[in-house]
Amino acid sequence: MKITSSSKQEIISLPVPIYSSIKIADAIDKDGIEYAMFVGIDEKYVQQLKELSLDKSDTAIQNNTGDRRRFGEGSYEEWYKKNRTPFVLIDKQKDVLAAIIWFGPKSLGKKSLKFGEESKDVIQNEWHTVVWRCYPMYRGRGLMKAFSQYVMGVYKEQFLENIKFWAGMDNRNDAMVSLSLKLGFKADMENSDLKSNWLVVVKDA
Ligand SMILES: CC(C)(COP(=O)(O)OP(=O)(O)OC[C@H]1O[C@@H](n2cnc3c(N)ncnc32)[C@H](O)[C@@H]1OP(=O)(O)O)[C@@H](O)C(=O)NCCC(=O)NCCS
Repeated sequence: MKITSSSKQEIISLPVPIYSSIKIADAIDKDGIEYAMFVGIDEKYVQQLKELSLDKSDTAIQNNTGDRRRFGEGSYEEWYKKNRTPFVLIDKQKDVLAAIIWFGPKSLGKKSLKFGEESKDVIQNEWHTVVWRCYPMYRGRGLMKAFSQYVMGVYKEQFLENIKFWAGMDNRNDAMVSLSLKLGFKADMENSDLKSNWLVVVKDA
């Protein structure tokens, strides 16, 4: 996927206010489909995010993520309060949400909703989690590596200190494990819990 930064880049302070969004780039995939990339999610696409999270036919979302509870049944407003910064890729012609990557401060290795997140997070400044979603029509088309590299760059520019990225996933989720390794993440066995298939991967930003 070829990404072109928006020419009139504003100085962005993250996270952006809830339901606001700033366009940061245009992109085009190998089949000529055109996308707009934003930081922050407009209300219209939050509605799509809720519907996609409730989509029972998307077994990858239902089996590999806690998004049904997080966005489908839960409150986007409550989630946003956790200092999360979402980036989205929108199919320009269809005007639909193709993919989302979000970041936020979260202590290394803390389990996700799917793996039974319960306790309160103790934030360590240097560790930021990264989370990926690509929706069925756009999945497996090779969008996510370039999208990830681009938004990881935008996100880390916000921090003067060195931040580190980590991600938690099911070690049977081949697409996710492969994508993270291709992005240069390395397995962190100390914080993984493979008995319950919880794999933690880390990367210096
Ligand atoms: C995980 C996810 C974001 C990956 O996106 P994707 O569209 O499938 O991945 P892409 O097509 O962009 O491929 C990214 C890389 O991973 C590789 N890859 C993708 N699927 C793969 C698979 N099943 N097995 C091995 N490698 C795979 C690709 O070859 C590509 O590498 P390349 O660019 O060097 O060729 C997507 O599958 C998804 O949203 N799944 C459901 C939600 C989910 O599981 N999120 C993670 C929860 S922790």
